[in-house]
Amino acid sequence: MILIDGKKIAAELREELKQEVSELKTKYNKVPGLTVILVGDMAPSQIYVRNKEKSANEVGLKSEVIKYPDTVEEKTILEKIEELNNDESISGILVQLPLPKHIDKQKVIETIIPSKDVDGFHPMNVGNLSSGYESSVPCTPLGCYLMIKKIEPNLSGKKAVVVGRSNLNGKPMTQLLLKENCTVTITHSRTKDLKAECLEADIIVAAVGIPELVKGDWVKKDAIVIDVGINKTENGLVGDVAFDEVSKNAKALTPVPGGVGPMTIACLLKNTIDCFKRAQI
Ligand code: GUN
Repeated sequence: MILIDGKKIAAELREELKQEVSELKTKYNKVPGLTVILVGDMAPSQIYVRNKEKSANEVGLKSEVIKYPDTVEEKTILEKIEELNNDESISGILVQLPLPKHIDKQKVIETIIPSKDVDGFHPMNVGNLSSGYESSVPCTPLGCYLMIKKIEPNLSGKKAVVVGRSNLNGKPMTQLLLKENCTVTITHSRTKDLKAECLEADIIVAAVGIPELVKGDWVKKDAIVIDVGINKTENGLVGDVAFDEVSKNAKALTPVPGGVGPMTIACLLKNTIDCFKRAQI
C-alpha cells in the first residue's frame, strides 16, 4: 500500500511555488499578495489562518491577516473586501469560514471580486469550473486532485466515487474528476447502498464528515482512497475512512492528519500566484 504523503507532496509544491514567486518578482518587480480575513476567535480557524500565513511567507508571498471580533458588523467586512478588491497589491482575498450567524456568508463570498477569489467559492468561479473554463478551484479538492494525479496520471475512464456533496469539497471534486474523463458518482449520507457504490470505485474521495465511515470491505483492491475528513472523536482525530482496515485493501491512501490538510494550504498559495499571473496580462 502506498501511503500518500501529503506533507511531502505539499513541501515539494511549496518549493516549486517559491521558485515561481522568485521568477515573478524578477519579471514584474512585485510579488503576489494574499489577505486573509478572520472573524472571531475560534481555535481551529486561528490555527488554519496561522498556518496559511506561515506558508505564504515561506514561499515569498506578501501576506496579511486582518482580524475582527465576532461582534463585527457585516457592513465593515463588505467595505474591507471592496477596499481589497481595488488594491492592486492584493492578488488574493480569503475570508475564513465559518462566519458568525449575523453575517451573510454568501453575500461575503459574492462581494469578493472573482479574479481575487482564491477559494473559488464565487458563483462565477463555480460556474466556470463546471463549464470547463479557467477558474479558481477550491483548495481542498484541488489538493486531492493533485495527489490522485501523482499516483495515477491517466484517470481517463476510471470510476470515481465522491462521498459528500458540499460546495466546499464534493461538488468541485466531482468537476475536477469529470474534466479528467472519470465516470463520477456523487454519493452522500442519504445514498441507499454506499458500500455497493464504493466497491465499484477505482478512486474514492471521502468528504462527508462521518468518522471512519468508509470500511475495509467497502474498498476494491487497488483503489486510490483520499480522506478529506477531520473528525474529533474520543479516540482522537480521525478521518472519514477507517484507516487500518482500508490500508489492507487499497492501493494508495492518505493519512489523517498529514494527507489532505497540508495540500489544501499549498493549493491556496498556488491559487494566489495564479490570480496574480492572470492579473498581469
Ligand atoms: N474553513 C475551512 N476550510 C476553509 C476553506 O477552504 N476556505 C475558507 N475560506 N474557510 C475555510
